Amino acid sequence: DLVREKLITTVARPAKKTKRKVTVVGCGQVGMAAVMAILSQNVSNEVCIIDANEKLVNGESKDMQHGSVFLRDATIVGNTDYKASEDSAVCVVTAGARQKPGQTRLDLLKTNLKILDQIIPQLVKYSPDMILVMVSNPCDILTHGAWVISGLPKERVIATGTHLDTARFRYFIGQRLGVAPSSVQGYIIGEHGDSSVAVWSSVNVGGIRFADLLKCVGSEGDTDQWGELHKKVVKAAYEVIAGKGYTNWAIGLTTASVVSTILDNKKEVVTVSTSAKDRQGIENDIFLSLPVVLGANGVVSYINLQLSESEQQNLCKSAEAIDKAIKSICG
Ligand code: 2OP
Repeated sequence: DLVREKLITTVARPAKKTKRKVTVVGCGQVGMAAVMAILSQNVSNEVCIIDANEKLVNGESKDMQHGSVFLRDATIVGNTDYKASEDSAVCVVTAGARQKPGQTRLDLLKTNLKILDQIIPQLVKYSPDMILVMVSNPCDILTHGAWVISGLPKERVIATGTHLDTARFRYFIGQRLGVAPSSVQGYIIGEHGDSSVAVWSSVNVGGIRFADLLKCVGSEGDTDQWGELHKKVVKAAYEVIAGKGYTNWAIGLTTASVVSTILDNKKEVVTVSTSAKDRQGIENDIFLSLPVVLGANGVVSYINLQLSESEQQNLCKSAEAIDKAIKSICG
């Protein structure tokens, strides 16, 4: 290569790896939305895409590589072989079947549990120090399964969980008030799905708690009907799926947000799915979303919420629903 020889004098071997490599398993709509968000928001500039479908993963990774010049000269690889994922700081799993119109997230359980055996051991083999972020649904139960299969410490296996529901909740409240969603403080906890719980007792804007302005905000007797906004959160994915067949942009951005919190060791408080047994009054051995402090080592601490009586009951019901789904499959 004459031009190369004349142009470049190499004096040392280039580094093979960064400490910010992210692997995304599954290059469907969700996986690629996550990759796009991670690269375009400068969360990482080293991304590996893994998928069992060779033609698809080649096409998607090439298409993304061709935009490298606009993505901080990112390193992007696509492969069917997990060896390409070696030394990832974070591995994101988006592979699996997705909800069809009318299907709940729990309906996907059987199909998507099966694929974990093919994915998780491979990821652990090549990146034993990673933080594993599950996105595939039903994410709470799959995260539990992934943790068991992986043998990783509990704090290093999470799902995006209700971080997305929390984002939708803040958006809907912000819309109603004419306030930026980032200025709305509030959390959705529990199952990323139909039994999620809105923590109305702590929702506030500018430090002013809604519950101090309207005692029964979000629950029965709320003359303002704020509870409708939680219903909107629960219906959100169904509505998007009815329109376009799947959801991908908001979950892609949610995933990038979680990955960024980990890579930058932000210690941000986020509602992600984590081991919930013996936390917040939950006795079932399940995973669901609670507000945790998230950093480079994964879940560093839990925030001890002061839930109202009905919120506490609903959280326990959410835990029961997840437990029931697990038992219906695993006996
Ligand atoms: C979502 O909530 C379907 O879980 C996916 O967008």
